[in-house]
Amino acid sequence: MNQSLTNKSRSFSVLFVCLGNICRSPTAEGVFRHLLALEGATLDVDVDSAGTGDYHIGEPPDVRSQSAAMQRGIDLSGLRARRVSVCDFDRFGLILAMDRSNVRALQALKPKASRAEVRLLLEYAGSLVDLEVPDPYFGGQDGFERVLDLVTLASRGLISALQQRRAPIGHAEYPAEK
Ligand code: 4NP
Repeated sequence: MNQSLTNKSRSFSVLFVCLGNICRSPTAEGVFRHLLALEGATLDVDVDSAGTGDYHIGEPPDVRSQSAAMQRGIDLSGLRARRVSVCDFDRFGLILAMDRSNVRALQALKPKASRAEVRLLLEYAGSLVDLEVPDPYFGGQDGFERVLDLVTLASRGLISALQQRRAPIGHAEYPAEK
C-alpha cells in the first residue's frame, strides 16, 4: 500500500552511488545505517548502495574503507558491490551520488517517467563549498578518513531532514511502495 495515502509513518528509500561501489558509497551506506540506528530509529528507510561502473561487482568494500570504518565502530564487511540498474529508479525515491560524474551517469540511465531524485550526497552536509566526495581509491589512508568525515556529516543532515519530514531538496519524502 502506498503509505502516502495514510497518516501512519512515512517510509523513505535512499540509494548511495559512486563509481566502483567499493569505497565511497558502501562507506556512506554503512555510516548512514549506523547513525540511523543511533539517531533515527523511528524512521523507516530502505537503504542500499551501488556503483555506476562494473569493475568490482560482487566484491566486498576496499580493505582500506573497511579498516577506516571499523576504527569508528562500523562494520562494512558484509556489503558486496553491485551496479546501478534501471530498477533502482523505481525502488528508490532519493539517489545520492558522491560526485558529478556519478550524477551524469545516473541521469543518462534514468527512465523518463521515473520520479526518483538524483542529487549529490553532500547537499545534505550543510554549507560545504565543494559538494563532491573525493575518490580515495588511488590515494592514501587519509582520503578514506576524509570520506568518513564527509559522509558522516551528510548522513546526519539527511537523517535530520527525514525526521522533520522536510523535502529540502527534490523528493526526499518520496515514499517507497510497501
Ligand atoms: P569508489 O572508488 O567509486 O568510491 O568505489 C573507486 C573504486 C575503484 C575504482 C575507482 C574508484 N577503479 O577504478 O577500479
